[in-house]
Amino acid sequence: MDDVAVGPLDLAARVDDALAVQALAFGLTSGEVAVRRHIVLRHMACRGARAYGATTPAGRLVGFVYGMPNDRAHWWSTIVQPYLVRSGTEHWLDDAFVITELHVHPDYQGRGIGTELITTITATAEEPRTILSAIDTESPARRLYRSLGYVDLARQVHFPSAARPYAVMGAPLPLRRR
Ligand SMILES: CC(C)(COP(=O)(O)OP(=O)(O)OC[C@H]1O[C@@H](n2cnc3c(N)ncnc32)[C@H](O)[C@@H]1OP(=O)(O)O)[C@@H](O)C(=O)NCCC(=O)NCCS
Repeated sequence: MDDVAVGPLDLAARVDDALAVQALAFGLTSGEVAVRRHIVLRHMACRGARAYGATTPAGRLVGFVYGMPNDRAHWWSTIVQPYLVRSGTEHWLDDAFVITELHVHPDYQGRGIGTELITTITATAEEPRTILSAIDTESPARRLYRSLGYVDLARQVHFPSAARPYAVMGAPLPLRRR
C-alpha cells in the first residue's frame, strides 16, 4: 500500500478522476467514458450507494470502488436474474451488497489496494452477502475475488451492451481475509 490511503470517496465530485482510472485499468473509449459518467452519477443517487477511493498524499486518485444494496428493479439485477434462476442461485439477489465497479490504476496494482478497497466497502454493508459481475475469464480480478471467498453463481452471462460474457460471483460477508 505504501503511502496510498483508502477512505470514503465523494464519487459524484471525483467522477472524471475515477473514470480516468477505469479507462486505463479496464480499457474504455472516450465514448464509453461519457456513457459511464451518466451511469455513475445516477448510481450515486441510489439508496445506500457509497464509494471508497485510494488516494496518494498529493490527492491523486489511483483506485476506487463503489456499490450499493441490490435492488431487483435495477438493470444489472434484471439481466443476471434469469441466469441465477437457471443455476439455482437466485436467492443471492436478496439482501446482497453489489460491487458495481472496482478499479486500480495499472501503476498501482499488485500492492494490496484492490483488496483494501473491496474489504473496506463490504465491511460497511449490513447485508450478509455480496455479489458482482466480472468478465468471464481467468483475470487478476477473478483471482482476487476468489481469494476473498467469492464463488461463481452463473457463467457466460450476456449483458446487451457488452462484447464479452461475464461471470456473476457471490461471497458471504464479512469477506475472508487473505
Ligand atoms: C482487479 C484489480 C482491481 C485488483 O487491484 P489490485 O490493487 O491489483 O489488487 P491487489 O493488489 O489487492 O491484489 C492483486 C494481487 O497482488 C497481490 N498483492 C497484494 N499486495 C501485495 C504486495 N504488497 N506485494 C506483492 N503482491 C501483492 C495479491 O496477493 C494479488 O495476488 P493474486 O493475483 O495472486 O490474487 C486490478 O487488477 C484492476 O483494476 N484490474 C483492471 C480492472 C478490472 O478488471 N476491474 C475489475 C472489474 S470486475
